[in-house]
Amino acid sequence: MAVPRTSRTGPGVTLDAFTDRYAQRTHGMTASEIRALFAVASRPEVVSLAGGMPNLSALPLDVVGKLMGELVQTRGAQALQYGSGQGDPVLRELICTVMALEGVEASPEDVVVTVGSQQALDLVTRVFCDPGDVVLAEAPSYVGALGTFSAYQADVVHVAMDENGLVPEALREAVAAVQASGRRAKFLYTVPNFHNPAGVSLAEERRDEILEICQDAGLLVLEDNPYGLLGFDAPPTRAIRARGGEDDVLYLGSFSKTFAPGLRVGWVLAPHAVREKLVLAAEAAVLCPPQLNQMVVAEYLSTQDWQGQVGAFREMYRERRDAMLDALTQQMPPGTTWTHPTGGFYVWLTLPEGLDSKVMQPRALTARVAYVPGVGFYADGQGGPEMRLSYCFPEPDRIREGVRRLAGVVEQELDLLATFGPTVRHHPDNRTWTETPSPDMA
Ligand SMILES: Cc1ncc(COP(=O)(O)O)c(C=O)c1O
Repeated sequence: MAVPRTSRTGPGVTLDAFTDRYAQRTHGMTASEIRALFAVASRPEVVSLAGGMPNLSALPLDVVGKLMGELVQTRGAQALQYGSGQGDPVLRELICTVMALEGVEASPEDVVVTVGSQQALDLVTRVFCDPGDVVLAEAPSYVGALGTFSAYQADVVHVAMDENGLVPEALREAVAAVQASGRRAKFLYTVPNFHNPAGVSLAEERRDEILEICQDAGLLVLEDNPYGLLGFDAPPTRAIRARGGEDDVLYLGSFSKTFAPGLRVGWVLAPHAVREKLVLAAEAAVLCPPQLNQMVVAEYLSTQDWQGQVGAFREMYRERRDAMLDALTQQMPPGTTWTHPTGGFYVWLTLPEGLDSKVMQPRALTARVAYVPGVGFYADGQGGPEMRLSYCFPEPDRIREGVRRLAGVVEQELDLLATFGPTVRHHPDNRTWTETPSPDMA
């Protein structure tokens, strides 16, 4: 008898008939806070400070279109063919010149081109992590990396950050605690520049120390750096990989923020032996990265003033960052704090004591402003009072309006807190009620 694909139990309720056949690893796969928000946040009446989409309005689409057309016409037989599993050799050479801007000296032989740096995260985790292995990661961390670690059933142990990025002493303590528990941490995952979501950067003077701690502990560093060239005030900071990390650092890069995310071209630079494993894993997953897209990127890098274009992106994001920081300073009630990014896309905001960003979210959406609640950026349920605000996409006026709406919602929450105390909760359908403590809790 055929097994029913889905079974309906009532109006609008569909149960998944495959539940008992999914692999264990799927249990850790859940939609991220950002995915869940997407439908509501993309309504035109909502000011979305939630999404982290690069803003392509400054990219000359006519130039890119011409370049793509010519590429297919003149070298289509190569561009539309399968390519190398490690990635196009011409592009790998050019990637080395991009990394040189952050002091990284590398051979194209050690670069693997990936389908965005997201695939690099997947390949590295696949190659290094067995279920139950520990990954050290900043608190908070990029949600896409947490999704990957969870998909491979790795255990994330968070390490504290402050306004200067990852705290070396906290890293030492985390390494010691993992060792004391008899477990093995495989790598430290870090986004040193213009952190997603925290909007802070790892201070120059901490970088050598972080590398040294990891080297002493036999821990690889996974340096994820998609925003490094998007600094507003200063030239790029030397990468961790550039500080004697050839044998201990896996460096991830991407053209998503400096060119176009839709091309899905990123890379990983790995120690020689690891490179080989990553290529095998990549071939098993996708055979090879898209040849056409790689050639588009290579052509763009070698024929266009791409660094000038990155400069235009930087200016656009700087204007939006200024709009957000000014609006926050003017509008937010006392007790609210936030980071002051010097590049990238994000501000990390902490609500006044007693407020919870997830609980507040339905009210914010009703007020037509969206953000991402902090809890999604932690593997362990922290982040209640925090939220990520992105300034990369909306126009500066919309950013100001969004912050104005958000500040109004925070004011209302504070009023509620003052009136009802900290037990006020919101129902998912946006009604509010006051929880009565049960007798055994009182
Ligand atoms: C820190 C970080 N790493 C990796 C990625 C993935 O980027 P992509 O796969 O587009 O290169 C992102 C995307 O936002 C990111 O913020």
